[in-house]
Amino acid sequence: MSGNCCEITDGAFSEAEARSERKSYLKNGPAKQTKLILEAIRALGFKNSDLLDIGGGIGTIHHELLEDVAEAATHVDASSAYLKEAKAEAARRGHGERVNFIHADFTDIAADLPRADIVTLDRVVCCYPDFRSLLKAAADHSRKALALTYPRETWYMRFGLRVINFFQRLRRDPFRVFLHPIADMDSLIKKDGFERVSVRRLFVWEMALYRRAG
Ligand SMILES: C[S@@+](CC[C@H](N)C(=O)[O-])C[C@H]1O[C@@H](n2cnc3c(N)ncnc32)[C@H](O)[C@@H]1O
Repeated sequence: MSGNCCEITDGAFSEAEARSERKSYLKNGPAKQTKLILEAIRALGFKNSDLLDIGGGIGTIHHELLEDVAEAATHVDASSAYLKEAKAEAARRGHGERVNFIHADFTDIAADLPRADIVTLDRVVCCYPDFRSLLKAAADHSRKALALTYPRETWYMRFGLRVINFFQRLRRDPFRVFLHPIADMDSLIKKDGFERVSVRRLFVWEMALYRRAG
């Protein structure tokens, strides 16, 4: 995608950071919160599915699920640095032909994308101010399941995110992190026809899995 769809996000995630996350993934496997998404999706028992990973970063979710759950994936990301590492890793695994990589803000291009069986957003809503548009578009694009992680609504997370944003302001970096109200995210997804089938918590992150009802 051309233009400046992703100026803020491109500025926030450097190539060095993306390279180091890929290195850590290759050494240690998926991060703890990502494992929660992978376990929840695998527990659904889907096979030959298609996956839409929004803000997939270095692509951990599709690298993993293309092994046993998904046959094709679309990875939409507003960070070109992350996409570069995700593409390189997909090619290394022989998945290059099975993943459609798109550099964009998902809310800008959602209308042009087809639906997928599974939609994932791992640590994405907390990077985006308008969680309503993002989650509505994500839920609309899921045929069967939607899994996401987001920061827990605890005193220490409120404090921690305020500190991060304080330093962002000092650095004059426009990127901010957000602690969106979990009850509002939950009711928005349920209004779109989903039921919440599992919730798991770590110290920082919460993971929720939704299935399309009926
Ligand atoms: C904190 S990183 C998480 C990356 C990966 N999911 C993970 O957990 O390792 C947030 C990612 O979401 C992407 N992102 C945030 N808002 C987005 C949007 N509206 N559309 C597409 N990507 C978005 C960023 O570019 C970035 O890659």
